[in-house]
Amino acid sequence: MKLEINNISKSYGSVNVLENINILSDKKECIGIIGPNGAGKSTLFKIISGILKQDNGLVEFNNKNINNYSVEKRSRLGISQSFQKNSLFLEMTVKESLMLASSHRYKISFNLFKPLIANNLIIKNAIKIAKDIGLEDYLEVKSEFLAYGLQRQLELGIAIACSPKLLLLDEPTAGMSPAETKDIIKLIKKLSKDYSIIIVEHDMEVIYNLANNIYVLDRGKLVFEGSPSAVKKSKLVQKIYLGI
Ligand SMILES: Nc1ncnc2c1ncn2[C@@H]1O[C@H](COP(=O)(O)OP(=O)(O)O)[C@@H](O)[C@H]1O
Ligand SMILES: [Mg+2]
Repeated sequence: MKLEINNISKSYGSVNVLENINILSDKKECIGIIGPNGAGKSTLFKIISGILKQDNGLVEFNNKNINNYSVEKRSRLGISQSFQKNSLFLEMTVKESLMLASSHRYKISFNLFKPLIANNLIIKNAIKIAKDIGLEDYLEVKSEFLAYGLQRQLELGIAIACSPKLLLLDEPTAGMSPAETKDIIKLIKKLSKDYSIIIVEHDMEVIYNLANNIYVLDRGKLVFEGSPSAVKKSKLVQKIYLGI
C-alpha cells in the first residue's frame, strides 16, 4: 500500500481550508491526523476518500493518479471508509449488513428481499467479520436495536468486509461513552495488525494509543509530523490545543 498526498489545497470562497498538505505512507501503518475543530481534518478525509475534489494537488494510490476517481472507483482499488456519522441500514440485521458489504468483495449482487442464503462465501465472510469486530453474538439483531457503540463497531465491520488495502476512519470515537471508546480503540488496534489505517481524530489520547505517525493540522496547515512521543513533547502542539 502506498498513498501519496501531494501539495493538496482546498478553499471555500476566500477561506483556505487546506494549504499545501503533503502526506506519504508506503508501508502498513496507522497514521493519525489530529487538530482542533475546524482545522480541516474532515475535508482532508473526504479528499482522500473521493467525496470532495481538491482545488490543487495530487492524490496517488499505489503510484496511480486517482484525482479523478469517484468514491466507488477508489473503493474498488481498496480504499474503504467509515464515517463520522452513523450510516447503517437500521432495518437490516448485523448478518445482512455484513453480507451486503461482503457481496461487493465477491462481486455478487445481493438483494435483501431475495437473500442469497445458498451463498456460502458471503455468509462465511459475514460471520468471520462479525467475529473480528466482536459482534458474533448479534448476527440476527437489527442494527437499530444495537447500542450506539456496537453500531459503530458494525460500521467498522462493513468497512473491512471488502478486504481493503487502506481503511479511512473519521472520528471513530465521536459520541461514545468512555467504556465504548475503550472498546473501539481495542478493536481498531487489533485491525491495525491487518490493515493500513488513516484515522482522523480530535481526541489526542485516542491517537496516541493507535497511531505510529501523527500529522497535526491547524487552520488548514500541516504544522507538525512525528511519533506520538514527539507530538506529546511538542510545545507547538500544546499551544495549538490549549490555546496558550
Ligand atoms: N461545505 C463547506 N462550505 C464552506 N465551508 C466549509 C465547508 N465544509 C467545511 N468548511 C469549513 O472548513 C473548515 C474545516 O472544516 P473541517 O474539515 O470539517 O474541519 P475539522 O474536521 O478539522 O473539524 C471549517 O472552518 C469549516 O467551517
Ligand atoms: Mg471533522
